[in-house]
Amino acid sequence: MTEVPAHPRPGHLAPLGFEYAAAPESRAIVSLEDGYGLYVGGRWIEPSETYTTISPASEEPLARVGQAGAQDVDTAVGAAREAFEGAWSALRPAERAKYLFRIARLLQERAREFAVLESLNGGKPIKESRDVDLPLAAAHFFYYAGWADKLEYAFPNRSPRPVGVAGQIIPWNFPLLMLAWKIAPALAAGNTVVLKPAETTPLSALLFCDVLRQAELPPGVVNIVTGDGRTGAAIVGNEGVDKIAFTGSTEVGKAIQRELAGTGKRLTLELGGKAANIVFDDAPLDQAVEGIVNGIYFNQGHVCCAGSRLLVQESIQQPLVEKLKRRLATLRVGDPLDKNTDVGAINSAAQLQKIEELVASGEQEGAEIYQPPCRLPERGYWFVPTVFTGVAQSHRIAQEEIFGPVLSVLTFRTPAEALEKANNTAYGLSAGVWTEKGSRILWMAQRLRAGVVWANTFNRFDPTSPFGGYKESGFGREGGLHGLEPYLRFDEDGADGDG
Ligand code: NAI
Ligand code: MG
Repeated sequence: MTEVPAHPRPGHLAPLGFEYAAAPESRAIVSLEDGYGLYVGGRWIEPSETYTTISPASEEPLARVGQAGAQDVDTAVGAAREAFEGAWSALRPAERAKYLFRIARLLQERAREFAVLESLNGGKPIKESRDVDLPLAAAHFFYYAGWADKLEYAFPNRSPRPVGVAGQIIPWNFPLLMLAWKIAPALAAGNTVVLKPAETTPLSALLFCDVLRQAELPPGVVNIVTGDGRTGAAIVGNEGVDKIAFTGSTEVGKAIQRELAGTGKRLTLELGGKAANIVFDDAPLDQAVEGIVNGIYFNQGHVCCAGSRLLVQESIQQPLVEKLKRRLATLRVGDPLDKNTDVGAINSAAQLQKIEELVASGEQEGAEIYQPPCRLPERGYWFVPTVFTGVAQSHRIAQEEIFGPVLSVLTFRTPAEALEKANNTAYGLSAGVWTEKGSRILWMAQRLRAGVVWANTFNRFDPTSPFGGYKESGFGREGGLHGLEPYLRFDEDGADGDG
């Protein structure tokens, strides 16, 4: 089914002459239902329509899930409203915290089950779901649990109060982690939620409903409705929703912003990115290579803050790119459930097509492509880790978000030129700087128009640290104290909040 790119793919290169034996994580810990309903008011309701969710690594069907219609969404919003007006917003904050702590502990207890399911449904390597997604998701609940009864101290003299019902729409690249980013601060602040996972990755959100049951969360505080963009649009358009939190494409984010203008509904948007990862000639090259690899091949490059543009100082381009190519050839691409896999499956046929189209444009526009020899599985959606050199600022692969394992290399001579090229983008989510000089790190960080600037590291996340963008990367912050604010209203706000 899947077109594999027309570049060499004869086997994971085994440069030292040995192969890795398969080390599969067992699927037995996950028990899937044949079909799932919508989780509304603490119970499962029948959706009006259903569709089949698959494993992108094998195209194997996994389960039937609901395609919630506008009526279903309305029922969910009603349940959230009732829970908000009823027990939840009036609950003692320390009691709210208790539920969040319970959820965090349950996620830790069931981490392996969630990690396997996340890799199965989304295609990401098990070592990432196990070591990144799950620990961070639990950490977000722990972190925001701690704030639930301290809001008065977090925002002194501002009388923080919850906003009401939050509609939350999340993408497929970090399904459970994005759920945690959205639900934890909303609940800590005393809101109730209706959350929609992405259509390709609904299963971890549906398993999360069982965690809510175990935690004995009052019914209606969290409602999960599955479905595609139509379901998302129904949430955005529902009159009973007080706030929308969206993570996804810039295109849909803009459409949502247009629709909400003038309604008084609050909005935060976390959209795309085209981050510059900037390497100066005094950087430790081997360390930088690891950071570059982590920056763009982590999670198949399905990362909004991915370091997709490598800006390298001209004098070190040759040795750096050589080291990078050698490192690429050692990445193992394949079965997401194999513990040795570095790069898993592309999340969907549609995403694979987008990557292939942009890579073809890079070749047509004259950039030079490198892909290591690599054997890809027969079925499923795959893309070989790719590097483009000789990329010009005007190329589409330097401008557009590819959201795949594809790196574009550009060069610069001076810090001023690096800065100008880095900021020459419609996005502004993240950036990386590699140099031994602390003063240069600070000089760059102050001038880079990006929400997060990593220094001598990349793709590091922590619940205490705010995350979010400038320009077309969106607005509002998630994580840290900043991440609570969009879920609170304050005395100084007008009646409708600040939009
Ligand atoms: P998308 O923006 O269409 O999907 C993200 C979420 O929004 C999903 O839950 C989807 O069902 C929902 N959605 C779609 N249309 C909607 C609408 N009209 N109203 C409300 N909700 C809607 O993103 P898609 O199509 O999956 O990916 C396209 C590109 O977007 C990717 O190639 C990537 O460049 C970018 N993207 C960025 C993400 C990020 O983390 N910032 C995450 C996912 C995609
Ligand atoms: Mg879309």
